[in-house]
Amino acid sequence: MSSRLRHLTTLEHLPRETIERLLDRAESMREGCAHGTRKLDMLSGRTILNLFFEPSTRTRTSFELAARRLSADVINFDIGFSSTSKGEALFDTLHTLEAMHLDAIVVRHKVSGTPEELVRHAMSGVSVINAGDGNRAHPTQGLLDVLTIRQHRPDFKQLTVVICGDVKHSRVARSDVHALKAMGVKEIRLCSPRALMPEESEFPGCVITDDFDAAIEGADVVIMLRLQKERMAVTDLPDEAAYFQRYGLDNPRLARAAKGALVMHPGPLNRGIEIAPEVADGPQSRILEQVGNGVFVRMAVLAEVLGR
Ligand code: CP
Repeated sequence: MSSRLRHLTTLEHLPRETIERLLDRAESMREGCAHGTRKLDMLSGRTILNLFFEPSTRTRTSFELAARRLSADVINFDIGFSSTSKGEALFDTLHTLEAMHLDAIVVRHKVSGTPEELVRHAMSGVSVINAGDGNRAHPTQGLLDVLTIRQHRPDFKQLTVVICGDVKHSRVARSDVHALKAMGVKEIRLCSPRALMPEESEFPGCVITDDFDAAIEGADVVIMLRLQKERMAVTDLPDEAAYFQRYGLDNPRLARAAKGALVMHPGPLNRGIEIAPEVADGPQSRILEQVGNGVFVRMAVLAEVLGR
């Protein structure tokens, strides 16, 4: 049996056994909470800090809900009203908060590698969970994406998955690829305009293309990504109407995928830019299921790292 995780900063090199243990636990959390309405006593007396240096709707809210459903105490650290806005260094903020006796820190930061830095500087006994760092990793999103896929298409070795959009700047794409590879999918296709393509060396074994019509052909799962303007050079910004023409997911394009293909998106959605509203709200969309699964996956991760 793979050993229990103390921190979760990336899915890279995580064995399938560990990923499946977290997914199984998320499923049992779902049942144990009667689909999210009941509290479990598991983390009573534990304190979890949400430390978000970038905006978030889904991740921050679902980590808070997850912690509360496990009966932990949660502090949502408000960066705008904190001393970081007066120039306090990250590690001074960390040690100040740690002195208040934390058990876990959930961190989102624009600088790739910040969670590992916190692991190096955190007091022993404090767990660090990455809620998204730069373009590098978003491990709980990767887990909730494979959980959503597993609920509909459990035989991963039969699956072709296409990820389309701004792959270059996407931490979700990187964590999805790590999780999908660990689960043994048949093929991963990454599609984006040339300006937003990642280095091939970063994604060994994936098909990389700028032709969405070809990439989506026969795909079982279609994961759409938004244009991450906050991480993009102005010169890389495409014209949005032209972008939708070539890379937007509309119904005619979705018809090229396998029958009943799953449509996914980590959010936030930009309707009419990377996805047509009728697809986002259509019968093949699993987008809100992803959001719901996010709470159970984060409960599973908190229980894993803080479990006694
Ligand atoms: N998917 C995701 O990370 O969404 P938020 O930025 O709203 O947390």
